[in-house]
This record gives sequence, C-alpha cells and structure tokens, in this order.
Amino acid sequence: MTTAHLPPLASFWFHDSASTFSPTVDSLFYFILWLSTFFFVLIVGLMLFFMAWYRSRPGHAPEHSPHHNNLLEATWTIIPVMLIFVIFGLGFSGYMEMRTVPDNAMEVQVIAQKWNWSFRYPNGGFSPELHIPKGRPIKLLLQSKDVLHSLYVPAFRAKMDCVPGRYNTMWFEATEATGTGPEDGFDLFCTEYCGTSHSTMMSRVVVYDNEDDYAKFLDGVIDPRKEADPVIAGRTLYQNRGCAQCHSLDGAARTGPSFKGGWGKEQPMTSGENVLMDENYIRSSILNPMAHIRKGFQPVMPSYQGQLKDDEIYALISFIKSINLEGYETQWPALEGEEGGAAATGAAEPGADPAEKADEPVDDKEAEGADAPAEAPVNDAA
Ligand code: CUA
Repeated sequence: MTTAHLPPLASFWFHDSASTFSPTVDSLFYFILWLSTFFFVLIVGLMLFFMAWYRSRPGHAPEHSPHHNNLLEATWTIIPVMLIFVIFGLGFSGYMEMRTVPDNAMEVQVIAQKWNWSFRYPNGGFSPELHIPKGRPIKLLLQSKDVLHSLYVPAFRAKMDCVPGRYNTMWFEATEATGTGPEDGFDLFCTEYCGTSHSTMMSRVVVYDNEDDYAKFLDGVIDPRKEADPVIAGRTLYQNRGCAQCHSLDGAARTGPSFKGGWGKEQPMTSGENVLMDENYIRSSILNPMAHIRKGFQPVMPSYQGQLKDDEIYALISFIKSINLEGYETQWPALEGEEGGAAATGAAEPGADPAEKADEPVDDKEAEGADAPAEAPVNDAA
C-alpha cells in the first residue's frame, strides 16, 4: 500500500511491501541486482575497450599473450567466492526466519482446490479471502483437495505449495493494514499451474488495523449452520466454500452451470440421458460430481464428500431453490458495503428490470432479472 520505505527503484517494481519478511527479501534482491549490474557493466565494458584497444591494424604485429597471471586469477576467484558466501548467508538466515513459525502464531487452515481458496479460522468459520490482523504472526496450514496449488502473497514476499495428501505450513506477519471493503486487500494468487482456471484462482488478504475490528470479523464467520434460516446459511456456504467461483446466480454459464434456471426440469447430460434437477440431483452433484456431467460443461468439479455435512448440503439446496422457485425468496439482511440487502442476491422480485443486470454477459434466455451478487463477499465485517 505504501511505497515510502522502499529503496529508490523498488517502488518501480514492487508496489506493496507489507510483511516483516519484506525488508530482508527486498534488500537481498537489490543487493544481487546491483552486484550483477556492476559486474555486467565492468566485464562488458572492459571487453569492448580491449576489442578496440587491441584491434588488428595494418603494420601492427600481434603481441604475445601471457598464459598465467597468478595474482589476477586468485583475485577473480577469491572475490566472487566471498560474494557468494555473503549471498548464501543472507539467503539462509532469511529462509530460516521464514521456516521458523513463532509460538504465538494464530493458525488459519487453507484449503486449495480447483479453482478456489477457502480459509478456515480457529472458531470454525470460513471465508473465501484471507482476513488477518496487523502485527500478529499468522501460521497457515495448507492443504490441497486435488492437485498441486501454491499460495503466493507478493506483498508479503511469502509463497508455499499446497500438496495433495499432506499439510504444508508457512507464516508471516503483516505490517500494513488494508481497507476492509469488497475490493480492498493484498493480492493472493495460485502460483502453480493447476488446470483450466488456474489464472482465475485468486483471492485477497484483508489486513485489519486493530484487534477489535478483527474480532468483529471473526464473529461474523462463525459456523453458518448456526444460522436458523437454511437459505441464508446456504448463501453463506455458496460464498465461502467456493461455489461462487464456478456457479453464477444470474443464469450466466461459468466453469459450471448457473444455479439459476433449470430447477425442476430435465437437464441434458453429456452421457445423452436427461436428469431431473431436484434435491437428489444437487446432492449427488455435490458429493459425486462425476456421476452426471451437464451437457456443454467439463467434468472438473471436485467432490465435497467429507467436506460438507448433511445439513450444509440441505442449506445449499434450499438456497438454490430460493433463487429458482417462487415462495422461497428470503429477505437478505443488508450486508455492510452492499447497497440494500434484499435484491442483491439472486432472489430478486419477478419483473425486476433486466437492464440493471450485472457487468457480466448473461445468457439471454435464462436471465430473469437477477442482480449479480456473486462477487459480493458475505463476511465483510468492517
Ligand atoms: Cu491452483 Cu493454479
């Protein structure tokens, strides 16, 4: 967010520098950069100079070249070796710092899967972005549900692979707060190619300036099943467990079919059969996505077997019904940072003006006047 304390040219390449690792990593980077620049100019400059100085000219006999110069050879061996040890020493101490998690670190579980991130907090709540307080060490416990992913926060100079079948850990401590609005935060990327939508597997790190605001955020992400209305619990799950990445609420096709449209009707599958889109279809699509692949879509959805409990699946089904069936609409509570609560999710009144629709291109025949909510995070405690 701020570039004031970076070295002169650093602000040109690196816009954010916001963790306790940044000074170490950046100074080593610039040390190597300027060292390489110095030797590049020195060596290429001397080479060009000698080419001109010793060029062949008419009437000029080639001079005898010496085979050895012990002093010169010792010098150009010893100086680079010393420089390498300096680089190794700085790199090693920085690496050890990054690998040694402080005892008082707060643990956040990270679940990577094709193609979204989920972050799980000590109180059991989930969010699709990483929310952390400033000035407290955060330990991430990383896991992958399918293939190799890698979590990367450039502003923190921190990166670690998420490997299927094992846990990895990383830690960092943010030194700069960000805003807490829907667009605020440091970039968080997947930095390991993981398939079709690798490039969209992005999220944000929201850093809170004070612990009170952070405690408020944590209160807002408690287990969605404690919510009495299954439709609201389902909407929270839709946002926080990665459905929103691939399934729109406005009829537009993304990686997967939209949640809007098609409920209660036979849907064509790639196998050629038609399957009724009802409660059992949704349930089987969540737990065993490969059983039925909708025509026109790739078989890429990961299974949520063991990740979603029965009442969570019921909540998701209720939510999907709520945006497809009359009589299921729920008056959404207004979310902070969102204009008016009610219509902002799929449950718009019938006959809402289709011109007010989302920025996204919408499949014309299925669009039925829904405002696009998909990008509005549910848990934006400010
Ligand atoms: Cu996940 Cu690339």
